[in-house]
Parts: sequence; C-alpha cells; structure tokens
Amino acid sequence: MRIVHTIAELRQALAGATRSAFVPTMGNLHEGHLSLVKQAKEHGGPVVASIFVNRLQFAPHEDFDTYPRTFERDCDLLRGVGCNVVFAPDEAELYPEPQVYKVQPPAALADILEGHFRPGFFTGVCTVVLKLFHCVQPKVAVFGKKDYQQLMVIRRMVQQFALPIEVVAGETARADDGLALSSRNGYLSDAERAEAMHLSMALKDLANSLQHAVRNGPSLDLPALEQQATSALAARGWQPDYLTVRRRADLLAPTDDQMRGGEPLVALGAARLGKTRLIDNLEI
Ligand code: PAJ
Repeated sequence: MRIVHTIAELRQALAGATRSAFVPTMGNLHEGHLSLVKQAKEHGGPVVASIFVNRLQFAPHEDFDTYPRTFERDCDLLRGVGCNVVFAPDEAELYPEPQVYKVQPPAALADILEGHFRPGFFTGVCTVVLKLFHCVQPKVAVFGKKDYQQLMVIRRMVQQFALPIEVVAGETARADDGLALSSRNGYLSDAERAEAMHLSMALKDLANSLQHAVRNGPSLDLPALEQQATSALAARGWQPDYLTVRRRADLLAPTDDQMRGGEPLVALGAARLGKTRLIDNLEI
C-alpha cells in the first residue's frame, strides 16, 4: 500500500490505472469505512482511500479541531483490507489558497434536513469531493448510506456535471445493539454509548407506526407520528433535530397516496446526546 501526501505523488502512483475505485473519508476509520473499501475492491482496479478532515464542511462552532485524527492506525486498517493507495493531503496541499470557487448544491436537496441544521455543510462536502474526484479521477466512488443525504447530493452532482464516475452505495455498518458506526461515537461517555442505540430504535418505531397507520387507519397523520417519535426521544434526554419520513427519490415529504401506494421511503433522524450529534436512517 502506498501512502501519498501530494497530488503529484498521487498522480504518479496511479499512472496508467484506468479503473480505480475511490473511498473518500475523514479518517478515524471503523468497520463502516472498511466495508466501503472492501466493496471498492470488488471492482477489480486499484483502490484509493483519502483521509482529509475537510475544514470547509465544519461550521465555526463544530468539532473541526477536536475531530479524531488517528492516521497511523487508519493506515494499518486500510492495509489490512487491501487498500492500494492512501491519499492524505494536508490543508496546504488541498487548499493552497482559500477555496473561493465552491460547488453549491441545489437548496431543495441541500438546505433541508442536515443542510437546515448545518448551513453550508453540503457546499463544503461537494467542493472537497469534486476536488478529490479530480485528484484521483476514479471510475467508481463508494459512499455510505449512513450519510443518506450526502450520498444523494453527491449522486446529483456527478449527474449534473456529467462526471465519468459511477457512484456506489454501501450499507450502514452497525454495532451489535444497532448503533450505526461513526467516528463521532468515540465522543460518547459509557452511559451515552448505552443510550445511543435508541436513535436507530426510534427510527424503527417511527417506521412501524407509519406502516401500522397505513394498514389500519383511514387517517394518516405523518407529522403527528414524527412528533411522537421526536418527543419520545426527547423524553429520554436527547435533543432531536429531526425524525422524519421522506421519499427516497428526493427526500421530500410523501403524500398520503404515496405512503399508501408503496412509494420507497426512508426514515431519517438526527439528534444530540449530550454534546454529541448523531445521525441515522432506515429505508422503509
Ligand atoms: P466520513 O464521515 O469519514 O465518512 C466517509 C464515508 O464512510 C462516507 O461515505 C460515509 O457515509 C461512510 N460511512 C460512515 N459511517 C458508516 C457506516 N457506519 N457504515 C457504512 N458507511 C459509513 O462522509 C465523510 O467522511 C465526508 O463528508 C467526506 C465524504 C469524506 C467529504 O469530506
């Protein structure tokens, strides 16, 4: 496995490779990231993973400075799953001057849910991902469903700019109790870690109550079900940002007819437990 820190070294390491598969990350890797690398391996070409904590996608009050940086361990883990190239630029390499050209994704997709609570987040994500795509020039890029809205925003960016890249989705890797693996889980105290599974459980409960209402009732009050789910989590000591059911196609609210007609849906949630903000989702 080659570890490179500059774009020039990366280009050299990939010279002649026409079908590389790319997994962008911010490091502090866990089984979720590694499952994406394994999926990338299936495409047959060299696998490139990037490790870069992207300042552009953090608001000033967020955890950019304290985001866990575990480079040596990350490289060991990547070596263990057969990654071929690690691209780990420092800020001066990727942003040698302030990044004033940015990719602004459409508000209808990027200013809702995560984008509502983290303004500018998806502009930061799209800008760095487009830049990383140009550095790596992969044939395939693998993103996790854990960050469901991010996956959709990237898919649309690739489509709108006609990038010659196939975006592949990886399933969410979870701990035994159902908690979605996340670098931010490391911020949780023991008591919070024991509680954290209740976010995925709340999404399951919300999905179940919707399915129950679709089957049994003439009335289908989705906002009321979402409110119930939100209050139940708040009653456990969480500070929920949202718990909601949306159409998988565009993350907008489904109509009653669509809910009854089998429209593919996804329950999405974000909530803070103490100082840690967790997100999760469940396709229904
Ligand atoms: P990061 O949070 O490090 O995640 C990197 C990739 O791993 C993303 O595609 C994310 O969806 C995926 N991932 C995270 N947890 C996962 C889990 N439990 N199961 C499966 N996949 C999981 O997402 C980012 O970094 C950044 O926004 C990035 C795309 C690198 C741009 O800076």
